[in-house]
Amino acid sequence: MFPAMRSLRGISIAVFVVQALLASVALVSAKGSTNLSRWQTLSGNAPFVIARGGFSGIFADSSVDAYSLALSTGPPDVILWCDVQLTKDAAGICFPDLKLDNNSDIAVVYENQQKAYLVNGASTKGWFAIDYTLKDLRNVILTQGVYSRTNKFDGNGYTIMTVQDTYTQFKPPGFWLNIQHDAFYAQHNLSMRNFVLSVTRNVNVTVDYISSPEVAFLQSIAERFRRSATKLVFRFLGQNDVEPSTNQTYDSLLKNLTFIKTFASGIIVPKSYIWPVDGSLYLLPSTSVVLDAHKERLEVFASEFYNDVPFSFSYSYDPVAEYLKFVDNGNFSVDGVISDFPITPSAALDCFAHLGKNASKQADLLVISKNGASGDFPGCTDLAYLKAIEDGVDVLDCPVQMTGDGTPICLGSINLIDSTTIAQSSFSNLTATIPEIGQGSGIFTFNLSWSDIQSLTPVISSPQSDFQLFRNPKLKNAGKFLTLSDFLAMAKNASSLHGVLIGIENAPYLSEQGFGVTDAVLNALSKAGYDEQTAQTVMIQSSNSSVLKKFKGKTNYKLVYKVDEDIGGAPSGTIDDIKRLASAVVISKDSVFPKNAAFLTGVTNVVPRLQAANLSVFVQTFSNEFTSQAWDFFSDATVEINSFYMGAGINGVITDFPKTSDRYRRNRCLNRGSKIPGYMSPVQPGGLWLLITLPYLPPAEAPNPYLTEGDVVEPPLPPVAAKTPTSNLSGAATAPTSPNGQPKVAACVIAPLTAMLIAIYLLF
Ligand SMILES: *[C@@H]1O[C@H](CO)[C@@H](O)[C@H](O)[C@H]1NC(C)=O
Ligand SMILES: *[C@@H]1O[C@H](CO)[C@@H](O)[C@H](O)[C@H]1NC(C)=O
Ligand SMILES: *[C@@H]1O[C@H](CO)[C@@H](O)[C@H](O)[C@H]1NC(C)=O
Ligand SMILES: *[C@@H]1O[C@H](CO)[C@@H](O)[C@H](O)[C@H]1NC(C)=O
Ligand SMILES: *[C@@H]1O[C@H](CO)[C@@H](O)[C@H](O)[C@H]1NC(C)=O
Ligand SMILES: *[C@@H]1O[C@H](CO)[C@@H](O)[C@H](O)[C@H]1NC(C)=O
Ligand SMILES: *[C@@H]1O[C@H](CO)[C@@H](O)[C@H](O)[C@H]1NC(C)=O
Ligand SMILES: *[C@@H]1O[C@H](CO)[C@@H](O)[C@H](O)[C@H]1NC(C)=O
Ligand SMILES: *[C@@H]1O[C@H](CO)[C@@H](O)[C@H](O)[C@H]1NC(C)=O
Ligand SMILES: *[C@@H]1O[C@H](CO)[C@@H](O)[C@H](O)[C@H]1NC(C)=O
Ligand SMILES: *[C@@H]1O[C@H](CO)[C@@H](O)[C@H](O)[C@H]1NC(C)=O
Ligand SMILES: *[C@@H]1O[C@H](CO)[C@@H](O)[C@H](O)[C@H]1NC(C)=O
Repeated sequence: MFPAMRSLRGISIAVFVVQALLASVALVSAKGSTNLSRWQTLSGNAPFVIARGGFSGIFADSSVDAYSLALSTGPPDVILWCDVQLTKDAAGICFPDLKLDNNSDIAVVYENQQKAYLVNGASTKGWFAIDYTLKDLRNVILTQGVYSRTNKFDGNGYTIMTVQDTYTQFKPPGFWLNIQHDAFYAQHNLSMRNFVLSVTRNVNVTVDYISSPEVAFLQSIAERFRRSATKLVFRFLGQNDVEPSTNQTYDSLLKNLTFIKTFASGIIVPKSYIWPVDGSLYLLPSTSVVLDAHKERLEVFASEFYNDVPFSFSYSYDPVAEYLKFVDNGNFSVDGVISDFPITPSAALDCFAHLGKNASKQADLLVISKNGASGDFPGCTDLAYLKAIEDGVDVLDCPVQMTGDGTPICLGSINLIDSTTIAQSSFSNLTATIPEIGQGSGIFTFNLSWSDIQSLTPVISSPQSDFQLFRNPKLKNAGKFLTLSDFLAMAKNASSLHGVLIGIENAPYLSEQGFGVTDAVLNALSKAGYDEQTAQTVMIQSSNSSVLKKFKGKTNYKLVYKVDEDIGGAPSGTIDDIKRLASAVVISKDSVFPKNAAFLTGVTNVVPRLQAANLSVFVQTFSNEFTSQAWDFFSDATVEINSFYMGAGINGVITDFPKTSDRYRRNRCLNRGSKIPGYMSPVQPGGLWLLITLPYLPPAEAPNPYLTEGDVVEPPLPPVAAKTPTSNLSGAATAPTSPNGQPKVAACVIAPLTAMLIAIYLLF
């Protein structure tokens, strides 16, 4: 089944484990199931997936595991890309960079042997292949050259492979040689021309494409390949970069595609040539490059697709959405995409392209929003909710908070600093620390009236801001907050909704302060007509069982117990406690697939045990930003969702990007029974972890604690205290008093200032 198994010269043991990474299922033809006539490619066939250096997004570029993983996660006609460098003894090796110190440990092996050469006129320092024979390079090890990617496989001993070995070991369905620097090698009397002619003459190596950004090189071989099956492709670099043999910018070369066609049958363009972005990284209208090239009968390959480099905000951090824009936009399709993460375009092309909004659901997976579509708009605003509905959410969520004047509203946090600019407003002096609510200070919803809260500016959440990943900056302050009643009216009006989920936290504290949040929720639901027989389900969610008890038996609402911590297991007694109260449980992603150093280490039995007790299992939080996902999911939210659904069998996702989850369950690859392709197979939790060698293995971590009965069983909610006088509301004016009548200590306002500054820094 696995092509890499035939010839194993110099192959690392890791390759065997890579196969186990993906549940082994039969591959089916990507082309077989898609409607060919829909592709607006030059040939009318589906575009190609070209794996740059193999699956270089996870393993070292050009390494045996990178190529193996590309084969097992790509379509049956995946093309393996090899960047060719020449050694001193004219051997062609696959290596991504002219400088060997980028992507290998050569700087350690040949310490102090750095050289400087002119490369396209610029003096460049480093270790160059021209100074080493193939034999010299035998003990040089490939490493991850992109520092934001994991270096945990750098101990795996991946050796540098020749072009021919790469071909014979993998017998790839498609093989692509990129010759980035012919001029440089020519200066050193090494001929790329001789190399490609000899390698393609060798009957056992079939080269499908040869690309280069150098006109003279392609011209020099064009005649020899005119009648061969090998296609020549001109590679465009940056628009203002100068092509060394014509001394023209790539931009000006783009203006005469007729000229390009004289020596090439296709072009590679960076993706921004096709879909440019504005200065803030939002998409501009597409250019006519693809249509122009197709008019010249030139194939177009788009490059620079990386799941883990921030791309246009217009895609909401969803890499599948980006590929679809290039192959399924109604006007044109590129003929291939060059990717470091080939699993993503493979699924995009075969499973998601031309799906249509009405494609039927193939997965029994409930999509529950997290503060609406809070990946795209400030959480719990009208815009976030409308977007979630538009995006196909099943269950719209409202985390209920109480205002000082007793109005239940929807807001992701009881602390207004988390979702508004209140820290910079005149209400900033309402900052307080309330240990019952949590550590640190905040400005709490119950200290402002509803009208004051309405006057605040919403702020989009940016949970990945530590990694400089921010959400939708253009609309980061858009939208209006809603009362629970507004929310219910909006939800009831949306016929596509399956239901609403009302989250209640901090009820005991609120009760003591005179806010009866459970009654307020019951009231609002009743007023909105949700206690009659409605088509929509009402779910009440809390992490405190005493809240759910208040609803138990009174209504036919579905009760959802939220487990606040990461758990490693749940004993029967605890599950029975939950079962007595609730019909569904919310757990964290880590409680399903625990991880260490962002690698999955295995799978718990929490999901099957809860399901055996007839409890539905919802998991949170599924986000599109790649930094929120374990390495195992290849920086692709769809792979993560698929692995939780197909691999762990969860019943629902809680997500701030409902569009991605809804689209996932409509994908056409899910209904292929036992013929699910590799790219739509769940990852093997712990598969990557097994590949890490000892010196790189992170220290073992203690497993997550078990959920115990003490966690679930709680004393009943305290009675609602006598209502706090509303005069306290402006807070500002009257010095707040504590229950014992003593004025509050001023110090509690001073300490929070630093916290506020930190909060402001994080928000902007
Ligand atoms: C392919 O798509 C075209 C246009 O959408 C449609 O007319 C045709 O019937 C489809 N063919 C198949 C085999 O589904
Ligand atoms: C190293 O190589 C990667 C591609 O493998 C490239 O993206 C990066 O820019 C290179 N870094 C340097 C310093 O040349
Ligand atoms: C390349 O070959 C030419 C002619 O054989 C010779 O003069 C030149 O020195 C060589 N250059 C290098 C860099 O080896
Ligand atoms: C081509 O492959 C065959 C069988 O795999 C082998 O016997 C032969 O030596 C190879 N030829 C060359 C030129 O490598
Ligand atoms: C390349 O073009 C620049 C200006 O566009 C000119 O200054 C330079 O001399 C040219 N170089 C060659 C080798 O033609
Ligand atoms: C474009 O290239 C073709 C083919 O080389 C040439 O005949 C033509 O004059 C060029 N057009 C322009 C505007 O340079
Ligand atoms: C398709 O082309 C039409 C006409 O040029 C244009 O109005 C439309 O925006 C294009 N659509 C896309 C997705 O580029
Ligand atoms: C999709 O479904 C909606 C509602 O069921 C319908 O109004 C719309 O016409 C459908 N669109 C397509 C393209 O079938
Ligand atoms: C209900 O939906 C309709 C259209 O679907 C819309 O015009 C109306 O404003 C909505 N009402 C509320 C209260 O959201
Ligand atoms: C749950 O609520 C009870 C009051 O009903 C309270 O005593 C308990 O501390 C709460 N538990 C948590 C974890 O907040
Ligand atoms: C905030 O509200 C709580 C509960 O009503 C009250 O005890 C406290 O004094 C208020 N704090 C401020 C600063 O107004
Ligand atoms: C809080 O700020 C308001 C408005 O700026 C001001 O009127 C009030 O005096 C301040 N209150 C305190 C306790 O600092």
